[in-house]
Amino acid sequence: MKRIPEPFRIKMVEPIKMTNFADREKALAEAGYNPFLLPGDDVYIDLLTDSGTGAMSDYQWAGMMMGDESYAGSRNFYNLKDAVHHFFRYEYLVPTHQGRGAEQILFPALIRRAKDVRNADKHVFISNYHFDTTAAHVELNGGEVINVVDERAYDTTTYYDWKGDFDLEKLETAIKENGAKNITGIITTVTCNSSGGQPVSMANMRAVYEIGQKYDIPVVIDSARYCENAYFIKQREEGYRDKSITDIIREMYSYGDMLTMSAKKDPLVNIGGMCAIREKKELFQAVQTLCVPMEGFVTYGGLAGRDMEALARGLHEGADESFLHYRIGQVKYLGDRLAEGGVPIQHPTGGHAVFVDAKKIVPHIPGDQFPAQALCNALYLESGVRPVEIGSFLLGRDPATGLQKESPLELMRLAIPRRVYTNDHMDYIADALINVTKNAKDIKGFDFEYEPPVLRHFTARLKPIK
Ligand code: F0G
Repeated sequence: MKRIPEPFRIKMVEPIKMTNFADREKALAEAGYNPFLLPGDDVYIDLLTDSGTGAMSDYQWAGMMMGDESYAGSRNFYNLKDAVHHFFRYEYLVPTHQGRGAEQILFPALIRRAKDVRNADKHVFISNYHFDTTAAHVELNGGEVINVVDERAYDTTTYYDWKGDFDLEKLETAIKENGAKNITGIITTVTCNSSGGQPVSMANMRAVYEIGQKYDIPVVIDSARYCENAYFIKQREEGYRDKSITDIIREMYSYGDMLTMSAKKDPLVNIGGMCAIREKKELFQAVQTLCVPMEGFVTYGGLAGRDMEALARGLHEGADESFLHYRIGQVKYLGDRLAEGGVPIQHPTGGHAVFVDAKKIVPHIPGDQFPAQALCNALYLESGVRPVEIGSFLLGRDPATGLQKESPLELMRLAIPRRVYTNDHMDYIADALINVTKNAKDIKGFDFEYEPPVLRHFTARLKPIK
């Protein structure tokens, strides 16, 4: 178990409040036993998400002072366009306020095009795994989603290098069953957040793109964690060990026609996103047309000039190999410590988070009493660490029957913000969780006190089952 030293030093600190058990008990009850409703000030180490929670560098902060706040044609837009072209080789760029901003302007444009050009009867998107907001934007526009991630992703105990890969057979079957003209897009999500921040191999990205070409289906790369994916390719895939991260990224994006990006993850900014398109000019124009009413004028898309500068610089820092070595190493260090302490996790650890297999820790709690949520609450009480549930609580009910859907996995995600917490923090998290699992048989499930009709996990209130 190797601790990889941080490739940076600290020149500004942010104090965090140390709380005791009684404080946390009170805060959690007030939050309706839903960590989303906890005030940040009551959290010691916040592992809710790695999105927008990273620390910017001195170089990025210096860039914030170089903001050109021109409404149209800001200098920072052109700097961002250059950085995007440098890594992805895509011609056309529309900045957006975050990832879902890109989704809300690209997917309607793709659907309209499929209606007009392909005469489609319905609009199906196929992905290794759609992120929640990605699926929501497809569905809000009348489309359907299909996930075809490799089955091995669901077996947390077995090591497999590429648990983010598409099952290529399932992909082709889904295309044939629905009719190629009805497949509006294939979405390659790198890394695959939903299976544990697991990478997609270059070979798989290439094969997916070839299938797209064969059936004339555009491939969108959902790019929240593309640098982490590139690092895994360099480490694990034959033929890439001596390639630079930049060259790997360029090859990855040659297997896509366009990208949506939440820049709040790998590109190290607190807010920002984009849609970029390789060469389809008409699609770009349709996306620009939607950008104006939804996000803002086409050269800022909801971002201040200074935000675009921080992002242009963050694209370079996020792809730095020594940073990625430390970053992936820190997540792995936490995973290794947990595994050594007997905590069941998704193997191997992914890029941005350790996913803990809660079903195995609290097998006495049934799915409709939210085992992973119960574990999240127990960890918070023990330590002030805030994780997030990815299981039945998130999944929700079948709209047709009103019954709780059965989740294949009940996971607790420990997402690690970038450049924020030290390796000592990782030890603290590991010690706390190992302790919690030792007394896991006493952990009780939860029931609803208030259940919102949609996206319930954000605002629901729960009560412990006696
Ligand atoms: N795609 C992926 C793969 C994501 O993980 C996210 C966000 C988005 C798109 C949407 O981007 O938040 O900038 O609008 N994931 C965050 C998470 C929220 O916690 O995993 P956004």
